[in-house]
Amino acid sequence: MKKKYNQCFDISERNKDYLNVSIKRSKGKLPDMEVAKAYANIINKIKLKNLSILDVGCLTGHFNKTFSKLLKKKYTYTGIDPWKIHINAAKKVWKNSSNTNFKIGWAQNIPFKKELFDIVICSNVLTHIPEIKKPINEMLKRTKKYLILRTPVHDKSYRIQMVLNSKWFKYTKVKPKDEFNSHGEPRVYEYYDVHSRDYLESVIKKLSPKSKISFVKDIFFSKKNIQNKNEKKLNKTMIINGQQVADLLILPHYFVIIEKK
Ligand SMILES: C[S@@+](CC[C@H](N)C(=O)[O-])C[C@H]1O[C@@H](n2cnc3c(N)ncnc32)[C@H](O)[C@@H]1O
Repeated sequence: MKKKYNQCFDISERNKDYLNVSIKRSKGKLPDMEVAKAYANIINKIKLKNLSILDVGCLTGHFNKTFSKLLKKKYTYTGIDPWKIHINAAKKVWKNSSNTNFKIGWAQNIPFKKELFDIVICSNVLTHIPEIKKPINEMLKRTKKYLILRTPVHDKSYRIQMVLNSKWFKYTKVKPKDEFNSHGEPRVYEYYDVHSRDYLESVIKKLSPKSKISFVKDIFFSKKNIQNKNEKKLNKTMIINGQQVADLLILPHYFVIIEKK
């Protein structure tokens, strides 16, 4: 099993179904994500004219499709993602766009050492990373003004692993009987962590003591648009009692808006 930073490579590196959803979105063949629209609204409220945006964990840059329609200002969009298949597809989709740039890179080691970005965004990524101090530090270092995270936040933290097997996930060879090794650890997994607000706040404050942090609950979605039946995704999001739910998991999503001072 290939792992880096204690994340399994196998899942995203081979998951073409997931990639294709993002390609279709980037090409405008699937509707914009509700979260991408919410990001555009947040960015539109920021009083900066010419923006540089870095999207950490960009897949094929599908947020840029939404931004190109909804952002009311001039901007450049740079996307990084650890997986070559994502970045190769992104470069292909956006080859005729003059304000986009893509690079392979991990949140834990962002490949731009000198360049700063007005806004760094990181949506639905931290939940999959088991150690979040390093990526938050890296992102803060590349941020000129704002770092905007979107991630599940609660009053308690939860460490959650989805354990994959070949019966329902065609991109692994691990059979159900071998899901856990002899130490009781999952062989192929993906983290779906929830972080406590106290922990997140303490990490950010330690790294950037003067920054202003706002937690904004993500209520910016339409139930109808989220429950899109045409999408081929592993854990489709449903809305139950107003909460976003993926398979067994309630996802208490927040935007964490960090303004550097
Ligand atoms: C759930 S998708 C989110 C994609 C997009 N940001 C969105 O919100 O629709 C998670 C993305 O993060 C990427 N990713 C996973 N681990 C990462 C890491 N350590 N650093 C940067 N990106 C990562 C994955 O390849 C994938 O593109």
